Amino acid sequence: MIAVAVVATLTVASCSGSDAQPGSAATSAGAELYEQSCASCHGNDLRGTDRGPPHLSQVYAPDHHPDASFRAAVTQGSPAHHWNFGDMPPVEGLSDDEIELVITYVREQQEIHGLEPYPPE
Ligand code: HEC
Repeated sequence: MIAVAVVATLTVASCSGSDAQPGSAATSAGAELYEQSCASCHGNDLRGTDRGPPHLSQVYAPDHHPDASFRAAVTQGSPAHHWNFGDMPPVEGLSDDEIELVITYVREQQEIHGLEPYPPE
């Protein structure tokens, strides 16, 4: 299912005309994967839910949580330590390439939207 969705997304992106940004196919594939695998806790808008923290927080800036800690959180999970949402379980079913797409998407959203203070005000 995920592979089908990614292919569909890539196809749509590559047909979207001359105004497509470089990298937008990767971005929309990453967005799709994020929505399927992460948004139930971290929110469709990356601003968190009652089950997980916002990825648009200063604490997830690349200098606090580099890409390696994203890879580790996805493959091994993460014990609760910055927040009070409980532990993050490992996320099943994502290939290494798919994890990279998700990380690229999160970094782009952080760039676009900026970061909220941590701890939250
Ligand atoms: C079942 C809920 C849940 C899902 C699904 C989930 N997370 Fe999390 N995640 C959490 C919680 C809760 C924390 C906060 C742990 C803490 O208190 O620091 C967290 C923390 C993290 C961290 C920080 C790890 C660290 O080293 O502090 C990263 C990175 C992360 N999540 C990425 C992801 C990505 C990427 C996905 C999707 C592939 C995802 N999460 C899916 C609940 C979830």
